[in-house]
Amino acid sequence: MVIYQNISLKPYNTFGIDVKAEQFVEVKTVEEVQVLCTTFNLHERKTLVIGGGSNLLLTQDFDGMVIRMNLTGMDAIKEDNDHVWIKAMSGEIWNDFVHYCVQKNLGGVENLSLIPGCVGAAPMQNIGAYGVEIKDTFEELFAVEIESGKLVKFTNQECKFGYRESIFKHEAKNKYIIVSVTFKLKKNPPLNISYGAISDVLKAKGINNPGIKDVSEAVIEIRNSKLPNPKVLGNSGSFFKNPEIDEQAYNLLKVQFPQIPGYPTLPGKVKVPAGWLIEQCGWKGKRVGETGAHKDQALVLVNYGNATGNEIYQMALTIQNSVQEKFGIHITPEVNII
Ligand code: EPU
Repeated sequence: MVIYQNISLKPYNTFGIDVKAEQFVEVKTVEEVQVLCTTFNLHERKTLVIGGGSNLLLTQDFDGMVIRMNLTGMDAIKEDNDHVWIKAMSGEIWNDFVHYCVQKNLGGVENLSLIPGCVGAAPMQNIGAYGVEIKDTFEELFAVEIESGKLVKFTNQECKFGYRESIFKHEAKNKYIIVSVTFKLKKNPPLNISYGAISDVLKAKGINNPGIKDVSEAVIEIRNSKLPNPKVLGNSGSFFKNPEIDEQAYNLLKVQFPQIPGYPTLPGKVKVPAGWLIEQCGWKGKRVGETGAHKDQALVLVNYGNATGNEIYQMALTIQNSVQEKFGIHITPEVNII
């Protein structure tokens, strides 16, 4: 385990922001994570744990220690008639894990194909797409408690999952380093293709009786058609969360903006797509300097090459203000801003 000084973080964040970390270390085993916690008194230092760096906006140099999770390995650890439990180490690329499950014809994560990032970051914000979230297949995770270096287990309930939410964004924030995640996959899963675009793609391909692989391929096709590849155009997926507003407020907005989409969630609550709100404010495809909102998905902010983190952050604030002014709705970032 080597600790480097003054390392550029450009290759380690999908926005491609060029800031420096005062210290940088890559860890490959659970033991290394534990040693790092105890020997270096990590709980007294400023630290940033990163996996794929795909949900991160770095606005300045980081004057602390960046820990890059590089723990790998995926294994079936248990099986019954209907399920297989797969344990994946936190540094595994999320899509490699999905591919592993799809190849074994195990269901539950196929709708989450091609989401960027690593396995260890997935529970932090309960990643989701096309009607599925990881909380639906999540069994448990192991994390190292930073203060003690001890390995601690979190069950599904203990993670307190919500829409892009978990305990690791709140009371457990900066207290644990996730080292492995176990998922309970189904041998004969009910497929979730109710999300409009998936059934349309399957229909267009003439697939009437889709399997797990077909759904995964349809999701990959949809994502590739409207989400920019971070290797080509820096971005971190959806920049904001979809806001949930009171049904009453939604009904009032509907009078003024009859086209406003909305999906009922909890009783009396409606989720409004932030991408639609941002597009209506005129931001879709608009470029300001080196940043802007993507031409096919206004919820995705992009780096055209040389944007600074601060430039993207200012753009986000401007967009946030214009949505507030036009609709009276406050949209909050999904991305972790450092
Ligand atoms: N829309 C617009 N204009 C836009 C973008 C979207 O009008 O520029 C409208 C669409 O027409 C559609 C609605 O907004 O009616 C929803 O759009 P979409 O299906 O693209 O999904 P989203 O709500 O914008 C969420 C997740 C994505 C996930 C997709 C697919 C959040 C914050 N984002 O986006 O997750 O891939 O659903 O399920 O919940 C991510 O978190 O990084 C991410 C990409």
